[in-house]
Amino acid sequence: MKTVRTSAGLADAVAPWKSVGAKIAFVPTMGALHEGHLSLIALARRNAPRVVASIFVNPTQFAPHEDFDSYPRHPERDAALLSRAGCDLLFIPDRETVYPPGFGTWIDPQGAALGLESAVRPHFFRGVATVVARLFALVRPDIAVFGEKDAQQLAVVRQLVRDLDFPVEIVGGPIVREADGLAMSSRNNYLSPEERQRAVRLSRALAQARARFECGERRSEVLCEAVTQELAADPEIVLHYVEVVDPDTFVPVEKVDRQAVVALAAKIGSTRLIDNIRLEG
Ligand code: PAF
Repeated sequence: MKTVRTSAGLADAVAPWKSVGAKIAFVPTMGALHEGHLSLIALARRNAPRVVASIFVNPTQFAPHEDFDSYPRHPERDAALLSRAGCDLLFIPDRETVYPPGFGTWIDPQGAALGLESAVRPHFFRGVATVVARLFALVRPDIAVFGEKDAQQLAVVRQLVRDLDFPVEIVGGPIVREADGLAMSSRNNYLSPEERQRAVRLSRALAQARARFECGERRSEVLCEAVTQELAADPEIVLHYVEVVDPDTFVPVEKVDRQAVVALAAKIGSTRLIDNIRLEG
């Protein structure tokens, strides 16, 4: 696997692939990689002969009080993992490559970006949409793979590509979970051993909603209640939201009569985690 850090280096590395029409699948990341990311690389491999990953901790999707400075950064370890997973090219741009001096164009997504995460992190999707557009402009991939754990982000990226006619096919990769059910996340690294034990309750709460759904319950309110009840059993878990939404628009639905996502966010200690399940109504 080759590593490049500049837009010129990137353009040189992809030019031979572009010249023979080889498709490029792209996996943008912020590093601190885990099995979930590696499953996205495997999915990219199945979708295209050439795979590019990026590592860029995007400052514009963090609010000043958030964890930009402390976000885990292990580029050497990440590069070894990506290489073993079958990535062909790793792009590690610096801030000026992504946001050159004088940069002044921002994408402020509405639609799928409204509510849920935006209610708690109003800056977030503007930063994500803008950096994804910049990375697409630099990498010029045919396919881009995003994890379904960030279900609202995936919906926002699909909307971005649709609205702005980016010639990129978006592929969602299933959530990868630890043996006890906790969704893999780079932020799990922040959890103390005790908080890590508590965190399993998030996936357990979603499993309660699924169990109700499988018994025939279709009312979103009742499915959300199953989640809140399970989480209420641990007063150290602060629920930010649980909602049943349409997976494409992220508009809340009253009942699950077609595909829907039950999405939640909660804080355990100082760590904020998100998780979701998909229901086939
Ligand atoms: O999901 C992430 O890791 C980030 O939000 C992304 C898509 C790489 C943009 O910075």
